[in-house]
Amino acid sequence: MSYAAITAVGHFLPEERLTNADLERLVDTDDEWIRTRTGIRERRILRDPDKATAYMASNAAQDLIEKRGLDPEEIDAIIVATITPDMFFPATACLVQHEIGASKAWGFDLSAACSGFLFALSTGAQMIESGRHEKVLVIGADKMSGITNFEDRSTCVLFGDAAAAVLLEPDPGDCGVIDFYQRVDGKHAGLLSMPGGGSLRPPTYETVAKGMHFLQQQGRAVFKYAVDGMARAAEEIMDRHQLGIDDIRYLVPHQANQRIIDTTARKMGLDSDKVMVNIDRYGNTTAATIPLCFADREEELRRGDALVLVAFGGGFTWGSCYLRWAYDGSKAARARESYATAAL
Ligand code: ACO
Repeated sequence: MSYAAITAVGHFLPEERLTNADLERLVDTDDEWIRTRTGIRERRILRDPDKATAYMASNAAQDLIEKRGLDPEEIDAIIVATITPDMFFPATACLVQHEIGASKAWGFDLSAACSGFLFALSTGAQMIESGRHEKVLVIGADKMSGITNFEDRSTCVLFGDAAAAVLLEPDPGDCGVIDFYQRVDGKHAGLLSMPGGGSLRPPTYETVAKGMHFLQQQGRAVFKYAVDGMARAAEEIMDRHQLGIDDIRYLVPHQANQRIIDTTARKMGLDSDKVMVNIDRYGNTTAATIPLCFADREEELRRGDALVLVAFGGGFTWGSCYLRWAYDGSKAARARESYATAAL
């Protein structure tokens, strides 16, 4: 069996920045509160009412296709992790398939909130490991501004919009997704949810008036479970593989809150220079946070680097993944430079 390796990364960020100062004009909050409680300075917002998650996901896929020099017809399957699909159906994966011209692909959306990318990655990896797929595109994409109540200061400061994609292929050696640990527990479903709009509470004047189509959460309780869940998931995967802190090149945590990230790293005994963080610039982009970290730091990564990914989200959903990076990021950077030079 070949491991499924990440062989390319792409991403998309809307241009508009929503800073803490902008939020001070919308709700009763201030920059200092947001920075010290969450670590966030700004986030990106997709303002165009005619564009949403499928647009961002397609752009992230297109970025990957161009960087990798991939023929979209080679893609066997597309998995889009999202809780903010353009609509319930058709699935975002279908819209992306059409947009990028992946004419031989099948695909589906996967809903696991902030653990979405992790769950989609392990699903895609098993599709590769089965030997039935050669190229699986895994995308994490969320337009969180579409379900955020910009009158609720306790949630509107947290989230942003983004998409990022990875390509999975069989690795000829020993790199790729080595193992994963994943769990769900619906006992606390009500602590973090969007209660309206589904078959239980279909949209009515009443559900809209009650703000049931916005994300709602009990932040302090979620914080507590997230810290605990992420630390335990990281510990589980490290124990299984007898990984010490010196074995790990980077922890790549879901970016929900700088304090959750710091606590997880501290419990693992990792210094901050071994933790990928970009929450300050993008906020919590739900399914996009982990691949967005890859996109940000791709150039530093080398074949064989051991990464531990860890996430926690609504559901609850949580888990961790141990993977060995499959390519030298500098090569990707050089390839990008040569595309840029060729384009001049
Ligand atoms: N600006 C100023 N004050 C605020 C704001 C704000 N934006 N939001 C809340 N407050 C106030 C509250 O009203 C409260 O005031 P009170 O004491 O007068 O009642 C006070 O700040 C403390 O509120 P808490 O909710 O207890 O603040 P806490 O320190 O827990 O921080 C936060 C809130 C940042 C939401 C934190 O609980 C958190 O990060 N929780 C995790 C939630 C999360 O990240 N969810 C995303 C999805 S799940 C995941 O990704 C892991």
